[in-house]
Amino acid sequence: MYQTCQIVFQRYDSAAALSSDDQALLAAARGALALAYAPYSHFRVGAAARLSNGAVVGGANFENAAYPMCLCAERSTLAAAVSQHPDTPIVALAITASAEQQPLLVPPTPCGACRQVLFEAEQKFDQPIRLILQGDGGPVLVFERVGDLLPFPFDAEVLRSI
Ligand code: THU
Repeated sequence: MYQTCQIVFQRYDSAAALSSDDQALLAAARGALALAYAPYSHFRVGAAARLSNGAVVGGANFENAAYPMCLCAERSTLAAAVSQHPDTPIVALAITASAEQQPLLVPPTPCGACRQVLFEAEQKFDQPIRLILQGDGGPVLVFERVGDLLPFPFDAEVLRSI
């Protein structure tokens, strides 16, 4: 029997519709683009995590000549946040990206591996991480939790069942 599942998200035409906190986090993610090391793809990705104590931690992609070893911005940022603040939940993560050739006007949705890793952070802290995504401009997507972007995650529940 076929079943369906819904993905719930918000879409705004511009960042002006966001709260000032979310706009500030997106601005911090844009600032983090300067940290990107992307000599191979020339696709810079910047992210900024807001923690429950108000701290903001930025990060960016860090590429490698062995292409599969590239570190995505989301995971770099998460690693920085949980290393600096191991016991502080992450409440929001803004992600942006910028390409060399022309303005990126589609929101950079995190890759599957990043979704899985960010989902683990939601589980660890038992706290949803709000995702705010926008390119150089164009629409903004907001997901209230990483789980909304990752139906049927591989999680501890599966391991508990063995
Ligand atoms: N990248 C990210 O930083 N996050 C993603 O979710 C997908 C892709 C980076 C990896 C690589 O440095 C560049 O974007 C092109 O794939």
